[in-house]
Amino acid sequence: MDATQKYSVIDPATGKIDRRIFSDQAIYDHEMERIFGRAWLMIGHESLVPEVNDFFHTYMGEDPVILTRDRQGELHALLNMCRHRGNRVVRCDDGNATRFMCTYHGWSYGNDGKLEHVPGTSEAYYDALDKPSLGLVQARVETYAGIVFATWAEDAPSLEAFLGDARWYLDTVFNRRDGGMQALGPMKWLEPVNWKTMVDNCSDNYHVPTTHLSSARVQTRYLGRPPLSHKDQFESPNKHVFVNGHSITFREAPDNTPRYVHGISKDTFPLFLAYHEATLPEVERRLGAFRARHVQLGNHSIFPNGVLGFRLALPRGPLQTEFWHFVLLEKGAPEALKRAIRIGSQANNGAAGLFEQDDVDNWRQVTAASKSRLGRRISQDLSMGLGHAGPHPEYPGVVSERYISENNQRLFYQRWEEFMNAESWAEIPIAPITARFEGTATIRG
Ligand code: FES
Ligand SMILES: [Fe+2]
Repeated sequence: MDATQKYSVIDPATGKIDRRIFSDQAIYDHEMERIFGRAWLMIGHESLVPEVNDFFHTYMGEDPVILTRDRQGELHALLNMCRHRGNRVVRCDDGNATRFMCTYHGWSYGNDGKLEHVPGTSEAYYDALDKPSLGLVQARVETYAGIVFATWAEDAPSLEAFLGDARWYLDTVFNRRDGGMQALGPMKWLEPVNWKTMVDNCSDNYHVPTTHLSSARVQTRYLGRPPLSHKDQFESPNKHVFVNGHSITFREAPDNTPRYVHGISKDTFPLFLAYHEATLPEVERRLGAFRARHVQLGNHSIFPNGVLGFRLALPRGPLQTEFWHFVLLEKGAPEALKRAIRIGSQANNGAAGLFEQDDVDNWRQVTAASKSRLGRRISQDLSMGLGHAGPHPEYPGVVSERYISENNQRLFYQRWEEFMNAESWAEIPIAPITARFEGTATIRG
């Protein structure tokens, strides 16, 4: 497909999608321009660069980026490419440095991106080099509750508009405490999967009782988790919601128990319950009573490639994805609770996680099917729950009637089309913010 051709990869009336979007190199190259070149992308967390002069090496799509906190404490996202010939100026994962020296010819950049020193400015360049125009290329940076986002697009709307009403739900995990959160990680590994397979899986509540049957049984037997069946999933009052490009699932929680996270077991539950009760007044003050008591975020994805909370699905070609798995902890939580979440996270997600291994096998097969000679010509079927979603009196976004639905997946691929077909941000629709954000929490935390 060339750049002038309009994509029509999903039929909203039938939910049929064109499998070539999972394997075609030209489509992938176009994704890098039109999605990763213009969307707000999660690139890190403020806690990864807590002190002035800290830096953390990350990516925006396939572009290597240095997240820095400069000498004044300001955040920057700098393309890790020397403006002379293109060497990387940072070659490690993180550190603390006031400037970065390119090891090819010695050009040195401040951690705000400015080109500060060039060997031979007079002797070699005759004082003719335009240093101010040769700083590291910078992306726009904004933060949401400590999570750092960046975009290459000058014409992108604010991060607040980009997240829209999704923040109303996301706040219930990421914006609960005055003291904020800390990120551990990332654990990184490569999988032979297209990056979208794990994004759309974040709202796939249908697969859980089948894919994760054996893992769930282990959890029931050894951790005291309730058994999981199709019947439970089909009858679940939980919700499946699409908000401005972002896919959300959440639990309506009338019982005021803590949100389930990996790490909760019959042994650790009292710890989680005590923490939940002790922090509830603070959470109510920050988010209002309704969200604090009734809304518990489930799996979700932030468009385009933020998954399962604070995890990145970094594209590495149409047939490969680099997973960056972080654990986010509330800074003020007791150490024993943090430890339980850390261990639970590794045991279930992450390279050796039980649930992770179940999932990755599916995504590999979905990706592989999309490149076979015959398979790639036959569309995927995402028809579940067609016509059974719409506005809800209490909850923002497009809410499905049932927890088990493919509405979020259909809308994700429609959002993908909107980005792929737009010439500029002016052509990408943004849903207005309609949610009432009760409480004192702001986008800044
Ligand atoms: S490539 Fe960096 S100084 Fe020459
Ligand atoms: Fe799964």
